Amino acid sequence: MGYSYFSALPIPKPDPLFAIAAEAQAAGPTVINGTLGIYMDEDGKPLVLPSVKLAVADLQENLQTFSFSYPPLNGLPDFRETVTRLLIGERTIHVASIASTGGTGALAINLRLLKMMLGDRDVPMIVPTPAWANHLPVCKWAGLSIVEAPYLENGKASIAGIVDVAKKIGKPFGLLLQVGCHNPTGLDLDDEQTAMLIAELKKLSCIILLDFAYQGFKEEPEQDAVLIGKCIDAGLTTLVTWSASKNHSIYGLRTGLAAAIASSEEEKKTVDGNYSTITRGLHSAAPTFGQAIVATVQKKFSKQWRDDLRSARLLMKRKRELLIHNLPDSFHASLRGYGMFAILPLTEPQVTRLKVEEQVFLPLDGRINIAGIPEKRIRELCGKIARVM
Ligand SMILES: Cc1ncc(COP(=O)(O)O)c(C=O)c1O
Repeated sequence: MGYSYFSALPIPKPDPLFAIAAEAQAAGPTVINGTLGIYMDEDGKPLVLPSVKLAVADLQENLQTFSFSYPPLNGLPDFRETVTRLLIGERTIHVASIASTGGTGALAINLRLLKMMLGDRDVPMIVPTPAWANHLPVCKWAGLSIVEAPYLENGKASIAGIVDVAKKIGKPFGLLLQVGCHNPTGLDLDDEQTAMLIAELKKLSCIILLDFAYQGFKEEPEQDAVLIGKCIDAGLTTLVTWSASKNHSIYGLRTGLAAAIASSEEEKKTVDGNYSTITRGLHSAAPTFGQAIVATVQKKFSKQWRDDLRSARLLMKRKRELLIHNLPDSFHASLRGYGMFAILPLTEPQVTRLKVEEQVFLPLDGRINIAGIPEKRIRELCGKIARVM
């Protein structure tokens, strides 16, 4: 056989998180699986929210009104409108938006837009690290020049590293900031820190990209969205990526929204048009069934959805308290966060022993998906951790 052009491809490295998740899955239902960020029920199965069940039944009943045809490139209008309300509340401002394939797709679209807005060549993108595992790849594939900035200082969320890096860049840049329930640490900036960060950013030329993957997982959805309002009020150029994966528990339906706060209706139209150009060259329109579910939940079953989220928050909080109660002091600071994740202070050999000897599956950095561990097994998990220490 002659030369194979495929030989030019690099040897692929498996995604470490998906690899350990597959190992956990293959090991059977009795293992403790703290890998992928999925909200599980007490039997270790992905939860279907009652509000989502209601919306699916409603769509089924009214199937004749649901179209399986191509949607508009920017997505279903009801979906865009209801999610935009979740982002900005009752403000009357100009928000461009496009439906996306999950929060990841929203990032891919907004990062491309950001690059176009900042001149398209050698655009620095500050990514605070530790970051969600896919932040660096998604920025890389969007063609941005990644600049990492330390997010933690003495084990706490900090703006010092971000501000320091931002001040040194010396040209317009993008900043990718998680809105809350930080992945992987669970440790968020507090109000004072965000106010100081915004004040510093105002002095520089930048676009802030708010990654909002966990709306409603920390507090009520409106409270969780406060940072968006603060950026708008400060006059920062603000892009938002939103995901329905977690807060509607529809991970596989790949539903999200990319949004941009424009300063006029004219500007909004321009951004909407650019969004559709970007997405047409990526995957054309995003899938619609998840959009229809979200729009139905928000329009018809919003109270139930809020109750669902409240229960989820309370359960995650209870599990954190149980972990704190049953693990040594050295674990407490890392567990006093929000949302699904925490990074347990475990060494790589300890994480490996947990897998081999105790059938507890975690990625090597010790990140745990607290929402994936049944409450009834938390004490058992703590016993297993104690044995590898
Ligand atoms: C911080 C953060 N951003 C974005 C996403 C992407 O979400 P999606 O699964 O909707 O693509 C995730 C998912 O884990 C996340 O944790």
